[in-house]
Amino acid sequence: MPVKILMVCLGNICRSPLAEGILASKLPNDKFFVDSAGTGSWHIGHAPDNRSITTAKKNGLNIANQKGRQFSKTDFDTFDYIFVMDNTNYRDVIHLANNEIQKEKVQLILNSIFPDENVDVPDPYYGVANGFDMVYQMLDEACDVIAQRLIAKHSE
Ligand code: 4NP
Repeated sequence: MPVKILMVCLGNICRSPLAEGILASKLPNDKFFVDSAGTGSWHIGHAPDNRSITTAKKNGLNIANQKGRQFSKTDFDTFDYIFVMDNTNYRDVIHLANNEIQKEKVQLILNSIFPDENVDVPDPYYGVANGFDMVYQMLDEACDVIAQRLIAKHSE
């Protein structure tokens, strides 16, 4: 059974599709499965935002085939790790948890590089033009650390 990791943002079209593509590219796909979801329902079935697709492509990743979906309570059973992009996502996901075991699966993604600082990955949807590049760099750094830890922890 692969170790399962879920990336979560609000729309599942900007940040979490990038996080999914980046982390998946750093892990062996026979041992790990990476997916993403949004807390909101607006973009169910949609491809990622074109700006995320373009930013990924510039960095050698193809995320164009991803399809948006909404986070569901069953994801707490399916996934071993749930990384959220910001503090609002954290509250929304924790609100759906039934118990402490489920809550412990949820982490702010940037706490992997800035421990306990609870820093948000800013939503680039309405933001500045280079917002997607900034988001990519933050996620790439965080996913380097996450991938190293996951491989070390699950390599026996
Ligand atoms: P994301 O960005 O959470 O990084 O996918 C958003 C994209 C769209 C919307 C919100 C956030 N929206 O409200 O449509």
